[in-house]
Amino acid sequence: MKIHDTIAIIDFGGQYAHLIATKVRRQGVFAEILQPEDPIEAFRGYKGIIISGSPSLASHGEDADYNKDIYDLDIPILGFCFGHQEIAQHYGGKVIHGGREWGYSELQTQQGHPLFSGLSSRETVWMSHFDSVAEIGPDFQEIGVTLTPDGEAEHRYAAIASDTLQRYGFQFHPEVDSTENGHKMIANFLYEICGCTSSWSMDGFIEQKEADIRKQVAEKSVFLLASGGVDSTVAAVLIGRAIGPDRLHLLHVDNGLMRKQESSNVLKLFEKLGLGTNLHFVDASERFLSALSGIVDPEAKRRIIGDTFIEVFEDQAEKIGIEEHLLGQGTIYPDTIESGGTKRADTIKTHHNRVPAIEKMIGRGKVIEPLVELYKTEVRELGELLGIPREALDRHPFPGPGLGVRLLCSSGDASTIDLPSIQTSVSEISTQLGVSGMVLPIKSVGVKADLRAYEYPVLVSGHLPWDSLIKVVSSLTAEVENINRCIWNLSDEIPEVARPLSTTATRKRLDILREADFIVMETLRSHDLYHEIWQCPTVLLPIELDGQTGEMVVVRPIMSARGMTAVPVNLSKDVLVELRARILAISGVSSLALDITSKPPATIEWE
Ligand code: XMP
Repeated sequence: MKIHDTIAIIDFGGQYAHLIATKVRRQGVFAEILQPEDPIEAFRGYKGIIISGSPSLASHGEDADYNKDIYDLDIPILGFCFGHQEIAQHYGGKVIHGGREWGYSELQTQQGHPLFSGLSSRETVWMSHFDSVAEIGPDFQEIGVTLTPDGEAEHRYAAIASDTLQRYGFQFHPEVDSTENGHKMIANFLYEICGCTSSWSMDGFIEQKEADIRKQVAEKSVFLLASGGVDSTVAAVLIGRAIGPDRLHLLHVDNGLMRKQESSNVLKLFEKLGLGTNLHFVDASERFLSALSGIVDPEAKRRIIGDTFIEVFEDQAEKIGIEEHLLGQGTIYPDTIESGGTKRADTIKTHHNRVPAIEKMIGRGKVIEPLVELYKTEVRELGELLGIPREALDRHPFPGPGLGVRLLCSSGDASTIDLPSIQTSVSEISTQLGVSGMVLPIKSVGVKADLRAYEYPVLVSGHLPWDSLIKVVSSLTAEVENINRCIWNLSDEIPEVARPLSTTATRKRLDILREADFIVMETLRSHDLYHEIWQCPTVLLPIELDGQTGEMVVVRPIMSARGMTAVPVNLSKDVLVELRARILAISGVSSLALDITSKPPATIEWE
């Protein structure tokens, strides 16, 4: 028997599997992650099971070789996305490859069903799937249907249930923050169906973590890479509390990919937090930039940045004379899952703190990462309990590879791309929806149904209300293969030609991007939007339109809570006018667009 009421989460490698565990814990119920092939004994003693989503296709029988004895257990089972399809299929239903959806859907819920207790008859839910359930078995009933924009029911088996068998499935993802009342649906499963009682809290987490840190560090020291971002700052304070300030060294590296004036602000912040005792700084910008010179591929750039961090770290540790030490990092859970860090997860992008050199150090027990199970919102909550001031906690997330993943590079050769055929489909759909759409000859990273999607953006030109623009994005990204992102042209002219420039990471381009980013941050602050918006990357694309001289800047304001899903933000006309005037005045910039894509199918960062 388990001490706490506990739920087993079966991790099929979906991007949100771990998030399910977090959402269950947030309800005060403990959750543990199990693998699909674990022996049946491992599943005993749980109050219920949740089956995650997956990059695999249930319609093609992929990853079907898991331990199906779980279905003989006398405990409730709920499946999300792939899990929902597997449950439907196991009990006599049928799954087809088709009916794909990304982003928001309207769900009509069956009132009176315990899974929807306390919820209204219409709920907004979040979808990300290629496959769908086409038939359900005799013991099952449909308890939720999606609605078309005109309010018509689409019987796509969005939610199914067999109350006699206690088996349930949701095609959508209640675990992501974008499913507004997803936490209530999860709570209903825990309390109404599984009969759990609550027993988990963040205070208990701090106590447990401090004990774990002391045990892992023992007599050694910790040398922590401190970017000044929320995660590494909270990790530094937590480790400092556990082992005392004398054995904690902080290293802040200027990698040349930082924001304008960032390093000097970060050093001041650490002094203010009382972490100045062993604070070290190194300007390694030359080393990073020469390593990146000539590199176009985003994954290669990410690996180079991660590897260079480790080289600089090791050099500095030797120079300072820190002998027995562990590498401290503020890694959080999305860094692991997006880097393909669980058994089945696809690599969406390799986060800088998950490059192979660091994986090797982790294998040798040389790394300490106290926040590795948490998401950004939990890190902020933890930081608050640790007494870190809000100004440090409320900073926008900034990725470890910094502007390096916002400065897109290109060989300048568009000849290998089959742009004309993609363009034909894009033009057809765009014209029907009353806009002009142009495929740009540059790829960026996205995530579709738990798989990496490295595809093209569409530049959308035209004046439509925001909601209609968002529908254009949904249609283009769902209906045209190879399109994962749409950006909205903020110039009056509709361009006819887009030319990729042959260029990689240079100081000059970084300075252009730094200036554009600085203007965006300043504008958000002056319009009181900085704290309303979760994150706002500014991106430089090596693209020239209609023979103009100068690159394209893209601004990506989004709302999110954990960075695993995101929705674009509609900036007011005033803000757009100001951004346009100031950004187009930067020498080297000739066009400006707003990224209006949700995650999925695009990721927040472009690389
Ligand atoms: P994506 O682009 O994957 O980003 O939607 C999700 C969140 O993670 C941040 N991000 C990173 N953070 N190291 C980090 O510390 C990285 O390599 C990295 N890549 C992305 C991103 O800014 C967003 O908040």
